[in-house]
Amino acid sequence: MSDGPAPTDFASANARLAELEQALIADVASAQDAAAVDQVRAKYLGRHGLLQALWQVLPQMPPDEKPQFGQRLNTLKTQWTQAVEARRMALAAPAVDGPMLDLTLPGHPPAIGHRHPITQVIDQVLGVFERLGFAVIEGPEIETAFHNFDALNIPPDHPSREAFDTFFVNTTPETLLRSHTSPVQVRYLEAHADDPRPFRIVVPGRVYRPDALDASHCFQFHQIEGLVVEPGVTFADLKGLLAAFVQAVFGPATRLRFRPHFFPFTEPSAEADISCIFCRGHGCRVCGQKGWLEILGAGMVHPRVFAATRWPTASRGLAFGLGVERIAMLRYGIDDIRLFFENDVRFLHQF
Ligand code: DAH
Repeated sequence: MSDGPAPTDFASANARLAELEQALIADVASAQDAAAVDQVRAKYLGRHGLLQALWQVLPQMPPDEKPQFGQRLNTLKTQWTQAVEARRMALAAPAVDGPMLDLTLPGHPPAIGHRHPITQVIDQVLGVFERLGFAVIEGPEIETAFHNFDALNIPPDHPSREAFDTFFVNTTPETLLRSHTSPVQVRYLEAHADDPRPFRIVVPGRVYRPDALDASHCFQFHQIEGLVVEPGVTFADLKGLLAAFVQAVFGPATRLRFRPHFFPFTEPSAEADISCIFCRGHGCRVCGQKGWLEILGAGMVHPRVFAATRWPTASRGLAFGLGVERIAMLRYGIDDIRLFFENDVRFLHQF
C-alpha cells in the first residue's frame, strides 16, 4: 500500500481504493478472533479509518467525477462491512469437519400416532357385531330427558332415575348429557315407527355420570348399546348372541352366565358375567375370588319402550349395553380407568 500524498483525481483515487481493498481482504483473512476483527473494522471502516479518510479527497476532485466517487465510497463501505462481519460469524461458528449438511443422512421420521386403546376396543366389538348382521348407528351426547329417561320407562319420581343421574345442560327444555347409550334405542325406534321393520343395531358412544373420580369411576366413559327387533326373537337368542360375542372378544374358552337384575327398559333383565379371564374361573384378586367378571346389562325390550316410540307394542326385541373401559381394562390388565383419559403418551404407546 503506497503512503504517498492523497490522490486528487478519480483514477488515482480508484487505484488507491483497489489497493485498500486488497489490504482489507488480507487483514480480514488473518484475523483469528473477535478482537482482531474489531481492529480490522476500526482500521478500514472506523470514523478515523482509511475509507473515511478518502472523503477528504472529494473536494479536490473535478466536479464531474465527484458523484461517481462518492457512490463508490458508499458501496465499498457496505461491501467491506459485510466482509468483516462474515469473518466475525465464521469465527463464532463451531468448527466442523467436512460439509455442514450431510444430505445422505436419513430424515427425521414423522411421529405417527395410533388409535386410542378405547377406540381399538370399540372397533373390535363393532366388528364382531357387524359380522353378525348389525348396523352401526350413533346418537347425540346432549339428550332430552325424554330420550334418556321417560321413554326408557324411567319416570320422573322413580328411584331408578337416580341410577342414571347425569349432568344437566338446560332446565327448560330439559337437556342433559346422556348417562347411557340406551336413548339411541329410543331415537332409532322413533325414526322408524312409521315403517317398523326388523333390524339389528349397535351404538357406540360417550356417556356421562356425576361420579367422583377414582380408579374405577369416571364422569365420562364409553358404552356400546345393542338392539335387535325381530319377530319371534327370544331370551335364548340374546344369550346365544352374547355368548358368541364374549368368545370372539375374550377367547373361545370364555363362559357366560346371566344373573337376574332390574333395568326399567327391559323385562326380563339380566346382568351378564364372563368366567374370569385371569384365573379361568378358579378365583383370584381381579374377580374378588368369585371366578366371574361382570361385563354387561341386557334384557328383552320392555313393551313401554315400544309404546313410547309408537312402535307396535307386540313387537319383540332384545337389548344389551356394555361398558367399553371395563372391557379394555380386562383385556389389557389395566387397573385404573383414569389412565385412558390422561393422555399420557407413555401409557398410550403400549397399545
Ligand atoms: N343402559 C344400561 C346402563 O347404562 C345398560 C343396559 C342394560 C343397556 C340393559 C341395555 C339393557 O340395552 O337392555 O347401565
